[in-house]
Amino acid sequence: MIPLSVPCLKGNEERYVLDALNKTWVSSAGGYVIRFEQELEKYLKVKSCVALQSGTAAIHLALRLAGVERNNEVIVPTLTFIATINPIKYLGAEPVFMDCDDYLTIDCDKLEQFLQQECMQTSKGIKNKSSNRYIKAIIAVHVFGNMANMKRLSELAKQYDLKLIEDATESIGSFYCEGELCNQFSGTMGDFGAFSFNGNKIITTGGGGMLTAKDDKMVQRARYLSTQAKDDDLNYIHNDVGYNYRMTNLQAALGVAQLEQLESFIKIKNDNYTYYKKKLESMKHVKLLPFQKDVRSNYWFYSLLLSQTNSTKEFFVEELKRYEIQTRPIWKLCHMQKMYQSNQSFYIEKAYFYWERIINIPCSVTLTYGEIDYIADVLSKIT
Ligand SMILES: Cc1ncc(COP(=O)(O)O)c(C=O)c1O
Repeated sequence: MIPLSVPCLKGNEERYVLDALNKTWVSSAGGYVIRFEQELEKYLKVKSCVALQSGTAAIHLALRLAGVERNNEVIVPTLTFIATINPIKYLGAEPVFMDCDDYLTIDCDKLEQFLQQECMQTSKGIKNKSSNRYIKAIIAVHVFGNMANMKRLSELAKQYDLKLIEDATESIGSFYCEGELCNQFSGTMGDFGAFSFNGNKIITTGGGGMLTAKDDKMVQRARYLSTQAKDDDLNYIHNDVGYNYRMTNLQAALGVAQLEQLESFIKIKNDNYTYYKKKLESMKHVKLLPFQKDVRSNYWFYSLLLSQTNSTKEFFVEELKRYEIQTRPIWKLCHMQKMYQSNQSFYIEKAYFYWERIINIPCSVTLTYGEIDYIADVLSKIT
């Protein structure tokens, strides 16, 4: 089977993990956790970040530090992985769902329309007229390595006094290469940026995450909350309700080795994407979705749009499986999931279109041109 997305562990992974093991630093103390944070700070050009157990934990902490509380609301795109949304519920707050644009990221025109027409400014912040709840934050998701429109999102967040959280779990390494935000990395432009090192991501720690923030004090507070809000190491004094969210040294050892290779992985993914594009360009029934021109993407996931065909995505996934090619349909929309069906959603249109027509195709760093030739050949036969 040609897998969808598997890790590439050909660098210093074994050496660093064995080093951590030999020194018996396997838990959250030990040099690799700090080193991983420092290396990522340098790479992203941020003052500080904190290494965590998962991207979900990073989003949860970001929401809490953004001041999201019970019965507040948070604006989110419906086209995302469920882990963007669930942490809102952990805090007793509610998501309001937005549509996507043609790069699969939150539709800023509709977002603006929602804020203008459906909300009102009050002395205590912006209120949703229909639910009477205060809205505290927007989560922008940089889907598959693309970038949500951070310029517009930052302007809207400022205008309506909302915290802006970047779900950069899929886009580590993507940055603007033109315009006002030139050279700014995904995850470093909002109030908070959350990253994931889950096994299917471009770099992995097995499972893990990272949080950065514009305000360094927020990162320090996240670090405190991630280690059970411990105020005294010896006497078990805790002055807040914290979490066991800190990354372990073993995970971070993997992370340091993976980060060393990130730029080379991006180059391979870019090359493979370009090769796929060439192989698929003459086909009418399938089309590879583009990445933005003003962004140097990390090319994490490749999206195949089923265009001129009457076959369903389920048919394509099943057929490709018969040929030993692993693919995956894009996520079921979050506002359609059982837990969120009664939440407000605002003129969702494009997200339905893409949900029905996108499958993700093999994109591992280890993918070969020969495998791409084979996948293209199979795709030419399925219509
Ligand atoms: C868009 C998105 N948000 C959040 C997450 C959650 O990250 P993690 O699996 O590290 O908790 C993921 C990845 O799994 C993701 O793809």
